[in-house]
Amino acid sequence: MPGLSNNLIQFILDNKIITIDFDKQGLSPTLTVLNYLRSLPSHKGVKEGCAEGDCGACTVVIAELNKNNQLTYTAINSCLVFLPMIHGKQLITVENLAEKERQEIKLHPVQCAMVDLNGSQCGYCTPGIVMAMFALYKNQKNPLREIIEDALTGNLCRCTGYQPILNAAEKACQNGNTDQFSKKEKETILLLNTIDKKSISIITSNQKYFQPIGLQEVFKLIKEHPNAAIINGSTDIALKQTKKFEVIEEIIDVSSILELKSFKDTGTEFIIGSGLPLESIKDNIGVQLPAFTNMLNVFASKQIRNIATLGGNIGSASPIGDSIPLLIAYNAKLKLINRSGERQISIEEFIKGYRKTDLQKGEIIHSINIPKPSNQIIQFYKISKRKDLDISTVSAGFRLELSDNKVTDICLAYGGMAEIPKRATSTEKSLLYKEWSFENINKATKILIEEFKPISDARSGAEFRKIAAKNLLSKFYEETKQDYVSA
Ligand SMILES: Cc1cc2nc3c(=O)[nH]c(=O)nc-3n(C[C@H](O)[C@H](O)[C@H](O)COP(=O)(O)OP(=O)(O)OC[C@H]3O[C@@H](n4cnc5c(N)ncnc54)[C@H](O)[C@@H]3O)c2cc1C
Ligand code: FES
Ligand code: FES
Repeated sequence: MPGLSNNLIQFILDNKIITIDFDKQGLSPTLTVLNYLRSLPSHKGVKEGCAEGDCGACTVVIAELNKNNQLTYTAINSCLVFLPMIHGKQLITVENLAEKERQEIKLHPVQCAMVDLNGSQCGYCTPGIVMAMFALYKNQKNPLREIIEDALTGNLCRCTGYQPILNAAEKACQNGNTDQFSKKEKETILLLNTIDKKSISIITSNQKYFQPIGLQEVFKLIKEHPNAAIINGSTDIALKQTKKFEVIEEIIDVSSILELKSFKDTGTEFIIGSGLPLESIKDNIGVQLPAFTNMLNVFASKQIRNIATLGGNIGSASPIGDSIPLLIAYNAKLKLINRSGERQISIEEFIKGYRKTDLQKGEIIHSINIPKPSNQIIQFYKISKRKDLDISTVSAGFRLELSDNKVTDICLAYGGMAEIPKRATSTEKSLLYKEWSFENINKATKILIEEFKPISDARSGAEFRKIAAKNLLSKFYEETKQDYVSA
């Protein structure tokens, strides 16, 4: 469709292009994909459990074209995604999985496995689970159990029990990943290529939603709409609407800016685009930054990581944002850009206060520069009530360099201990140039518990936080002391 005009978006649903005219149809641009689907007579399979990314009942799959013009399939939480974000993509729901040939319905392999292995009881979670499993099926052949568990971490089931569900996923993915979607791939690619990927601007009586495709457009929009919320994955911002019922009046959605999704390995550092989804970062860094991978392994769920970005995690400046303490330990730098230039700033300097950053009007985060550790040991720790899909109570990013078992460099950055992710500078000082020994760590932990004044909140009491912080330092010592081999 040449010359896509304002207020319109297009995507594929049920094998045809759907055009939404927000103005004519009286729809809000922040209508979530979940609520859109639930408004249709034929897509009630998708469920709302929590409307905040926690239960997975709303899971759908998005197929989109990568730079090689091939389809990629990702599971997302439709409750967190605004409808304009699926422009130019294929939206796949549980209703689309079974093949219908004349009068016959042939279930998808993941559905068959769920039936055969008794993976469902009341069925409320089942469409979401089936869709998470479908994304796994399209991406993995014979996955290991841990990959299956990771793919289903974002889906809660309150009655069946997870064993039959995991078994069903294992069985379904055993025999390859071809299905009716593979047969229709060429057709789908052709159809997706007919959708104009131009910038989108949706203006309704009380909201403005912009989705530019170029950086200069972003700067122009920020100038014209200085109070607009910048969104990327929207996994933080969407909650304002879904949980606080706020009307977000102006949005600049930068998720279509390809430059912000870049990834570069220079040999000595990684330069990660602020808009690259966390799951893609995981794929790109491979085994090269183990602490970063450990952090991502316990970060939300696959559905969230498929859209959430590092730029968004840093931009939120949350005291319990998982990446920030670790990025401090890595000595990461941010590249900030505006219409007339760029500047570099260390992550520590960037975080100014409780959810406050050094971002100036007109600026956005372009990329994050993570130096590859040479002689330093970097570790990440997270303490939360649940191992999976939980926000940190306390987190830590630690860096240590030893020479002849003397500490030559140390960074102890904590999340959840203050109003911002913060280094325990007095504790660090007490350890620097000293022997990396049990005695010195013991002394240091006494300084550490005086150094922070954490708060008590729903996640834990202040005392628990102090003990946890202290124990993490001891754990770090225990895990690193073996690394020293006496000369
Ligand atoms: C169920 C659930 C589980 C979660 N689990 C975790 C977890 O385990 N650990 C954790 O740390 N967080 C977690 N989060 C929070 C959230 O997913 C992360 O903070 C995520 O990284 C945000 O990225 P986003 O792209 O979705 O950000 P968005 O919501 O799009 O934006 C977040 C903030 O960053 C700003 N921003 C985004 N991009 C830019 C940019 N390029 N330049 C300047 N500012 C920008 C926005 O203006 C906004 O203020 C969770 C959230 C949910 C809903
Ligand atoms: S409704 Fe619970 S994750 Fe979306
Ligand atoms: S089958 Fe009832 S919640 Fe999963």
